[in-house]
Amino acid sequence: MASRTSRDVLGRGLAVLGVAIREQPRIFAVAVTGSVLFGAMTVASAFVVGAVVGDVVVPAIERGSVGVGALALAAVALFGISVLRVAGIFGRRLGAGYMQYRLQAAYRRRVTRRYLELPLSWHHRNATGTLLSNANSDVEAAWHPIAPLPFAVGTLVMLVGAVASLFATDWALALVGLAVFPALFALNVAYSRRMAPRQARAQRLRAEVSGIAHESFDGALVVKTMGREAQETDRFAARAGELRDALVSVGRLRGVFDPVLETLPSLGTLAVLVVGTFRLRQGAISVAELVSVAFLFTVLAFPVRAIGWVLAELPRSVAGWDRVRRVLDATGEMPYGDTTLDPADLRPAPLTFTGVRFGYEPAEAHLPGTEVLGEVSFTVPAGKTVALVGPTGAGKSTIASLAVRLVDPRAGTVALDGVDVRRLTAASLARTAALVAQVPFVFDDTVRANITLDRPGIGDDDVWAALRLAEADGFVAALPDGLDTKVGERGTSLSGGQRQRLTLARALAGRPRLLVLDDATSAVDPRVEAAILAGLRSSAGEPGAPAASILVVAYRRATIALADEVVYLEQGRVVARGTHAELLATVPGYADLVTAYEQAEVDHAKDETYDEVAPLNSGLEIEVDR
Ligand SMILES: Nc1ncnc2c1ncn2[C@@H]1O[C@H](COP(=O)(O)OP(=O)(O)OP(=O)(O)O)[C@@H](O)[C@H]1O
Ligand SMILES: [Mg+2]
Repeated sequence: MASRTSRDVLGRGLAVLGVAIREQPRIFAVAVTGSVLFGAMTVASAFVVGAVVGDVVVPAIERGSVGVGALALAAVALFGISVLRVAGIFGRRLGAGYMQYRLQAAYRRRVTRRYLELPLSWHHRNATGTLLSNANSDVEAAWHPIAPLPFAVGTLVMLVGAVASLFATDWALALVGLAVFPALFALNVAYSRRMAPRQARAQRLRAEVSGIAHESFDGALVVKTMGREAQETDRFAARAGELRDALVSVGRLRGVFDPVLETLPSLGTLAVLVVGTFRLRQGAISVAELVSVAFLFTVLAFPVRAIGWVLAELPRSVAGWDRVRRVLDATGEMPYGDTTLDPADLRPAPLTFTGVRFGYEPAEAHLPGTEVLGEVSFTVPAGKTVALVGPTGAGKSTIASLAVRLVDPRAGTVALDGVDVRRLTAASLARTAALVAQVPFVFDDTVRANITLDRPGIGDDDVWAALRLAEADGFVAALPDGLDTKVGERGTSLSGGQRQRLTLARALAGRPRLLVLDDATSAVDPRVEAAILAGLRSSAGEPGAPAASILVVAYRRATIALADEVVYLEQGRVVARGTHAELLATVPGYADLVTAYEQAEVDHAKDETYDEVAPLNSGLEIEVDR
């Protein structure tokens, strides 16, 4: 079994190399040409050295005089060969380097591009640490054997040349070559076979170590506050220890094989000298020929290793390639349609859910997926505000994701401005509907860049207008560099409520016709939250101001009360619809939830854990009263 899989690895590894050659044929040709030139010159150098010994050294010893002409000729020949060898090495190294790094860059781009194309459901199933190692160490591993590949190909050509010139010289010496070179090759193959499982294991552990590291850094806050440093360190140390053991076992194997591989050509040289001396005595070969062949074995020892390097890297390459392909071949991306909504139309767009069913795909394919939404139907009429209320886990965020098509329903339709969202182009969808997610994400960039996201046509005036609507102009104006202030990775230099308002401003700056707010202002003072929603509602219809239909996931009574209609959700089903007052009076579950939340809110406010707003946002009271 083990040997069958390692034979597989050899075949598949060669297939990966084939892919590389097909992708970069010209650079590969340059590198191999350089390598073959080097190989040919290496064989040639052995014969020049032989000739020098036969024609210059031996006569010098016998006669005591040096043939100046022959010496000069030999010097010129050796110099010329050296120059060509250097040129060969240069071409090979440059070509191999280009090829390797170009492939790495190309595949990193492809993998990261694919990440962005794949649907959210795919991302839910794949850990961030794994994605990082796919784009980094797996891509690197896949193309690792490219560096020694041209050398190895050149060496193969060189070996054939060497054996041919051995035959041309003497059959007995050729037999020594025929015994030694294939033995070297076989030894290299055996080496790579034993290496295969060890390398694959090391590659898998590399990904796991990177995954654990990523998770601990990402969760640094939890780790620290919960006092889990020691446990996290242990968890990391355990896996890092496994990786170390795996790499040590790779090193140990290398330690056993390397000396053998190194010694074999020397034994070959010895055999040549023994056999050669007999042949010399028989008069079958000259001193020059014997020296050439002995020298040939010595100079071949090093290049032959290149074949071993490639073979030894193949298992790791296959392991990396498999992991890269898993990303590139992943399916499930959501094809976009080709319908475009009129970009000049800035009127609020209605949103309609009709009989929408949805379930998340199970983490593993064989597990049954549970239904999260069953037959959800409701409408957000153009320019109106609908509040989505329901207990935790009811499916509110899921509805928000469906509304902007982060996921597609299993059944039913989601229509934006009367068009099934699946028929819209990606650009049209992004321009028309904006989601402000439950967990705000801020890029490590300036406030301005975070709001415009390089979308065209958003000037500083628009940025400020959006910030004003999001009640964020006060604190941004108070930042040291205003719009040019860098906010740190994930916005660490901002408070939770500031981050939320920044992401809200980002959505508003794009002038969406539908705004989906998923609990997007939960960390903001309740009065400010109400002020934001009131501002958004009243700005609808004003010339130049964002005019949007709003679907808002909310808990606070003051916020919900501003909505034109409330959709009350329980366990993925719409239980009731109506105004806040109607639901309060007729739906006991709704009344309980809203009252319970209000109570918690009062307790919460007592702790004063809300984001501070008043000191920075001096115009607050006026804006609320407006
Ligand atoms: N990525 C996911 N994979 C599998 N199940 C999920 C996923 N996200 C949510 N769920 C499940 O779907 C259901 C609805 O989740 P959703 O996030 O829509 O609830 P919610 O109403 O937004 O809750 P909350 O008020 O806590 O934000 C929950 O039972 C949840 O466990
Ligand atoms: Mg949610």
